[in-house]
Amino acid sequence: MDRRRLLIPLLHLILLCFVDDVLSGRTSSYIRSEYPSTDIPLDNEAFVVPEGYNAPEQVHITQGDYDGKAVIITWVTNSEPGTSEVWYGTAENKYEFKAQGTTTNYTFYDYKSGIIHHCLVDGLEYNTKYYYKIGTGSSAREFWFQTPPEVNPDAPYTFGIIGDLGQTYNSLSTLEHYMKTGAQAILFVGDLSYADNYKYNDGIRWDSWGRLVEKVAAYQPWIWNTGNHEIEYRPDLGEASPCKAYLHRYSTPYKASKSTSPLWYAIRRASAHIIVLSSYSPFVKYTPQWHWLREELKQVNREKTPWLIVLMHVPLYNSNQAHYMEGEAMRAVFESWFVQYKVDIIFAGHVHAYERSYRVSNINYNITSGSPYPVPDKSAPVYITIGDGGNQEGLASRFFEVQPDYSAFREASYGHATLELKNRTHALYHWNRNDDGKHVPTDHIVLHNQYWASNTRRRRLKKHRKIPGNASLIAKYEELLDVLV
Ligand SMILES: *[C@@H]1O[C@H](CO)[C@@H](O)[C@H](O)[C@H]1NC(C)=O
Ligand SMILES: *[C@@H]1O[C@H](CO)[C@@H](O)[C@H](O)[C@H]1NC(C)=O
Ligand SMILES: *[C@@H]1O[C@H](CO)[C@@H](O)[C@H](O)[C@H]1NC(C)=O
Ligand SMILES: *[C@@H]1O[C@H](CO)[C@@H](O)[C@H](O)[C@H]1NC(C)=O
Ligand SMILES: [Fe+2]
Repeated sequence: MDRRRLLIPLLHLILLCFVDDVLSGRTSSYIRSEYPSTDIPLDNEAFVVPEGYNAPEQVHITQGDYDGKAVIITWVTNSEPGTSEVWYGTAENKYEFKAQGTTTNYTFYDYKSGIIHHCLVDGLEYNTKYYYKIGTGSSAREFWFQTPPEVNPDAPYTFGIIGDLGQTYNSLSTLEHYMKTGAQAILFVGDLSYADNYKYNDGIRWDSWGRLVEKVAAYQPWIWNTGNHEIEYRPDLGEASPCKAYLHRYSTPYKASKSTSPLWYAIRRASAHIIVLSSYSPFVKYTPQWHWLREELKQVNREKTPWLIVLMHVPLYNSNQAHYMEGEAMRAVFESWFVQYKVDIIFAGHVHAYERSYRVSNINYNITSGSPYPVPDKSAPVYITIGDGGNQEGLASRFFEVQPDYSAFREASYGHATLELKNRTHALYHWNRNDDGKHVPTDHIVLHNQYWASNTRRRRLKKHRKIPGNASLIAKYEELLDVLV
């Protein structure tokens, strides 16, 4: 028998023994058998085109207002514009209400998009299941969604977090595992279709991606954010307007948070205030995004929304050789605000691996004086890099050695996370590696809210494993850690 075939189950066994332990300051040695990082062929059933003349396809929804009483429903028709109406109601097959949408379409080099419909459905009740119907006659299609509870500090709510998804078999596996979690909305940290990796940025791969994610995105809102694969800046093809496909295809409720760009905005949902930042738009002092963020942070009311969550594409703390230091410019501009406002957690993608930090800041560092090292900081966010959705570029498996002290756990596997907000003080966070046909909860922590639980004593670790790095510094980090023991 091949020795490797013996070794891998053995490794599994060893690792399973660690799953319930605290995984701190650790680089996982998990070796995964992965699907090849190639896109699923266009004729695969994952991309099936719905039956019927001009049937709506690529259906997806997102939150449509600031507080969760509206959705924006988007879909594409390919033969003719057809209708942009959405029929909806609270009972199945009984559509009492109608909303009127708008259409848009675009070309990209030699690609010509279908007709893209965007329809705002507002004035909804909280905590209610709505059924909706789009398209006409025998081509009409029906879906449903559930509105969130009213904004309330103790409203429980579960978010899924996915990044850098793409359209490979690994992407499909991520989606399928996510669907089993019971999470209610997705925080998406950028890099959607990877269509830009095709010759002339073939827009057909934007269409196939829309069909791939429909089974989730038609039923629950995805809170969108852009990554570098959305930029599609190709002046050589006569396409010099950044994010052209993304901006036509994906709506965000940016005006509701007084943003002037769909690329950065905020929403409130249940007990969370979610801020979406654009890593690829200007953010230095005095730019529109900087002004907007300064004002939005003042709007955050932790008495109403205890959980303050920030999404961006490029991580500010990353010990992977891929995209190392790319977040440093934004860190220099925004990190002191994240500490000042006690952000609970920051999710980023971009690096095709998983990494979680301790609560750390480097705001004392400046170019004239100060310590140039990140230090434990109880007011700082936890930084999560989760660019591991499973796109065609494969995994970023080369982490820097030695693992920096601020890095709590890192592993180069595909997966997704869930964040269960329980009440104003507690949240459970899980990262799930999606491997070997089952989902494996791999990294889990209890988060203590930075506003409401800042004075509660944090639980100390029960077990200490021998970990590399500065032991006294790590002990300091661990005291600030929100770890499930
Ligand atoms: C949009 O679609 C209409 C109707 O099919 C077509 O006439 C028009 O040229 C398209 N516009 C762009 C920019 O592709
Ligand atoms: C630079 O950092 C030092 C140490 O934290 C601090 O005392 C000083 O005020 C900072 N300088 C500026 C211009 O922010
Ligand atoms: C908040 O949730 C945590 C975890 O489920 C629980 O232990 C705690 O008792 C809850 N607090 C309140 C005030 O309900
Ligand atoms: C470990 O960290 C502590 C606390 O920051 C520091 O005082 C000490 O010099 C460090 N030790 C080493 C060996 O780097
Ligand atoms: Fe990226």
